[in-house]
Amino acid sequence: MKNRGVFGSVFITSSGTKKVLLLLASLIFGVVATGCFVIDPNANQSTFEALGPVADRQLTIFWWITAAGAVVFVLVEAALIYALFRFRRRNDEESPKQIHGNTRLEITWTIVPAIIVIVLSVLSIKTLFYADPNWSSDVPDNPLTLNAIGHQWWFEFRYPSPNDEGNEIVTANEVYIPVGIPVRINLESVDVIHSFWVPKLAGKVDMVPSNANYMWFQADEPGEFFGQCAEYCGTSHANMKFKVVAVSPPEFDKWLSDQTAPAVESGDPLALEGAGVFKSAGCSGCHSLKTVAKSGSKGRVGPNLAHLASRRHLAAGMMDSSDGAGNVNDAYLQENLRKWLEDPSEIKPGNIMFSQAAVYTDPDKSLTERQISALVAYLTSLK
Ligand code: CUA
Repeated sequence: MKNRGVFGSVFITSSGTKKVLLLLASLIFGVVATGCFVIDPNANQSTFEALGPVADRQLTIFWWITAAGAVVFVLVEAALIYALFRFRRRNDEESPKQIHGNTRLEITWTIVPAIIVIVLSVLSIKTLFYADPNWSSDVPDNPLTLNAIGHQWWFEFRYPSPNDEGNEIVTANEVYIPVGIPVRINLESVDVIHSFWVPKLAGKVDMVPSNANYMWFQADEPGEFFGQCAEYCGTSHANMKFKVVAVSPPEFDKWLSDQTAPAVESGDPLALEGAGVFKSAGCSGCHSLKTVAKSGSKGRVGPNLAHLASRRHLAAGMMDSSDGAGNVNDAYLQENLRKWLEDPSEIKPGNIMFSQAAVYTDPDKSLTERQISALVAYLTSLK
């Protein structure tokens, strides 16, 4: 029988410590590399700050599953480490005790996980039903309903017109909702699969062409909530954003009735010139200036621009024109419009306007400096 003596045990210990350290280091690396250590509720798209009932339920189920997983992980790892040390081979001659099976243990580790899975399934299914506007106990029979339509790479929003049934108010990329009221959202897409996600209000639901999907959410407090397409849909998928603006119900009503008003016609000579360019350069072929459309009618190719200058963001959330207090700053808007018109592909690579509009595809038709200035003046007048 060999005796390792003092040096032997030191060797075993130090190699064991090394392995444990290595394991810890790779664990920390994994966590850091995946960004999982950042649980910052203040981040714009953090799901850890739930500000509505749907997001709240979804966050709760996340914590239940994480907690159950953590308990299982700790117990299994503890048993594993115990077994590794307790039953390790202590010298070359000794052979381990031979055993076969342990009925009590096997029944235990089948029943306990089964119970955990059943409990989590029940909680998950309850949450799924709660997030469904047709089943949720918190959604009234005739809720405020909003149609959200995915386009590459922007979001079209349609509200039932408050004035006349059968018509819808069309807007894009910025969606107003009244605080404290459940809003049902019907989801669809005109091209590929997108996914509608407002992390602080509700989890994602896919927008599928020719297949109606729906969800609901409610904002518990006023504020701006970041939304994002959450399904890869082409080159500018990551640039497909939107904003939910939650305001008091009277403010919401005012906003909606403002949206029904036709686009303002400015008397400014440069803006008038821009209105001419808007038609002659072909912009009006894809961008509507009408705020009201027949319910269920097909939208234009590009976002509705009737009240463009009242939106805080341009290019589906990519360019911020707000002054920090939630108002549109005309100087920022003009600067953003200019940048966007000069080279839309710089802001949103692959965008359809850049690849299809004659003013970008045909060098002979490129917008002149004067035309861009006129368009900027015109679009800024569309309050
Ligand atoms: Cu739309 Cu990703």
